[in-house]
This record gives sequence, structure tokens and C-alpha cells, in this order.
Amino acid sequence: MDKRPSSLKRITTKKQAEKFINDQVKAIQKQVGEKKVLLALSGGVDSSVVAGLLIKAIGDQLVCVHVNHGLLRKGEPEQVIEVFKKNMGANLIYVDASKTFLKELKGVDDPETKRKIIGKVFIDVFAKEAKKLKGIEFLAQGTIYPDILESKGVKAHHNVGGMPKELNFELVEPVKYLYKDEVRVVGEALGLPKNMVYRQPFPGPGLGVRCVGAITKDRLEALREADAIVREEIDKLKDKPWQYFCVIPDMKSTGIKDGKRYMGWAAVIRAINTKDAVTAKSYEIPYKTLYKIRDRIIKEVPGINRVLWDFSDKPVSTIEWE
Ligand code: XMP
Repeated sequence: MDKRPSSLKRITTKKQAEKFINDQVKAIQKQVGEKKVLLALSGGVDSSVVAGLLIKAIGDQLVCVHVNHGLLRKGEPEQVIEVFKKNMGANLIYVDASKTFLKELKGVDDPETKRKIIGKVFIDVFAKEAKKLKGIEFLAQGTIYPDILESKGVKAHHNVGGMPKELNFELVEPVKYLYKDEVRVVGEALGLPKNMVYRQPFPGPGLGVRCVGAITKDRLEALREADAIVREEIDKLKDKPWQYFCVIPDMKSTGIKDGKRYMGWAAVIRAINTKDAVTAKSYEIPYKTLYKIRDRIIKEVPGINRVLWDFSDKPVSTIEWE
């Protein structure tokens, strides 16, 4: 196994992060020289920190590709463009593939099949972009140390695990010996926004596993809006849970509006605390916040006529519904 060098001390302070950044900038420059590097930039902490390091080291020799699979949370693609293209001047290609993903997922209700389709379409879209760009020899990845430790087949990175061999890239993995908390310290030292550096975990298949059953555009949009409300209201709390989001099951129930009955979806609120995501405890959302979320979702999100709170613990209830 690829082992963390004993000379690399735990990074907890800004000063240590700055030293790490300087060392990595030199190492990247040495590895890459004048060549170009490609990076799939999701907007998650790891790939964002890798982008920050590479921009510092090689500027526009880095080509970032942000694939929007249409399953991102509200505001995420916009933030990637804002931070990297506008603020950091990155060479960023934005690919809106949301229609392709929706088409491929149409009518598919089995969770594992949904995950596989999302992973495969992601790789296809990314590889297509990579082939268009001539003369790229390196691929940067946001691999972190737990990925290496867990790499005995459990968790394949959906965005890099199966990159087609014919692309023939040499890898650049500047944070591969860091733990998540260290990556965050480095991200802060690089000047990335706090809400990007400290964002809660978000699964690779994104809202796809929270729009339960066969995904439709309408229900996905309702989910994105309701989820944004859940995050906005819980973000106001001092003591925030580890992960908090919204789920929309594939079912309808009766509502009443202007004296007429109609069928609508239910939004499910989920907020949990955990150390390692192996077990989890439902977080006690203050009632004031719960009512605020309920009122806002009913008022602001078309198609939803019921709000539920999933306060189950893991085990037996997994954090995600699919
Ligand atoms: P579960 O649902 O198994 O989730 O209790 C445990 C943690 O893992 C996250 N999760 C994923 N992360 N790709 C990821 O990168 C995935 O496919 C995936 N599925 C679940 C989940 O959000 C939770 O934090």
C-alpha cells in the first residue's frame, strides 16, 4: 500500500498548511514541467483544494472540467464557476450534461442501477471532453488518504475509478496523504470560501439518491428547492449537525388548496450526527426550525403538500434513503 511518509506531520495550523502548499507547488512543477493537466472539478472539498494547489503551481496549464450532472444542490455549479473561473482565473470548462443524465435515468427505479448509470454517464461525458482537448498527459485527482486506506474495493470514486485506459494519463495527486481535516486546513490557507471548505458530505450520485425511485425533472427540481430551504434554515443554528438534507419519496398524498383536492409529494427532512457515518444519531432539530422549514417548503416549493421528519438512527436506517 502507498503509505503516508513519516516526515509528513499532521497539518493543523495555517503555518503548517502554507509549508505544505509551498512543498506541493514545487513538487507539482517538477512533475508536470510545461505540460497540461486535466482535473474533474466537482466543487467538493478535495477536488477544489487540488484545483487551488494546481492553479498556484501551474496556472493555466491546468484545465478544469466541471460536469454538471443535474443532480447537484442548488447554487453549486454557480459557485464553482464564481470561485474558480471569476476569482481564481482558472481555465474552466463547464459542461451541462443534465439532460443526458435525466434521459439515461428515465424510468430507472433500482438504487444500484441508478448509481451505476450516474457513474458511467459521468465517465463517458468526462472522457468525451478529455478527448477533445489535445496534448494533455496528466490527470489530477482529489484522492485523500482515507481513499487509499479504504481502497480495498469498498468505495470507488465514481468520477475517477473507471477512467478509460486509452486516455493514458499520468496521475497528479497532491493531497493523497492527507486526512479530510488537513485538506480543509489547506483549503482555508489557499483562500477557498469557508462554505466550500467546510461543506457537509454529499454523495457522488448527488440528489439522484434522494429523489427516491425513478427520477423525474419536476420532482428533482422540487427536491433541489426544498433541500436548499432545509440547509438555509439549519445553517442558521449555532450547533449544526454533521449532515442535513431533504429527500422526496416517489409517492403522492392528498392535499387541499382553494377548496380543491390535489395530489402532491412529501418532503422528508433528515439531519444526523455521526463520527464516521458507520453509525448515526438523528439530530434533534429545534421545533422552531422544524416549523420554519415546514412553512417555507409548503409555501415556496410547488408540488409539495406535506413535510415529514425522518428521525431514525443508523442502524437500522442508513443516512441516505437509497
Ligand atoms: P449511508 O446511506 O450508507 O451513508 O448511511 C453513509 C455516508 O456516505 C455517504 N454516501 C456516499 N458518498 N458516494 C459518496 O461519495 C456515494 O455513492 C455515497 N452514498 C452514500 C452518505 O451521504 C453518508 O454521509
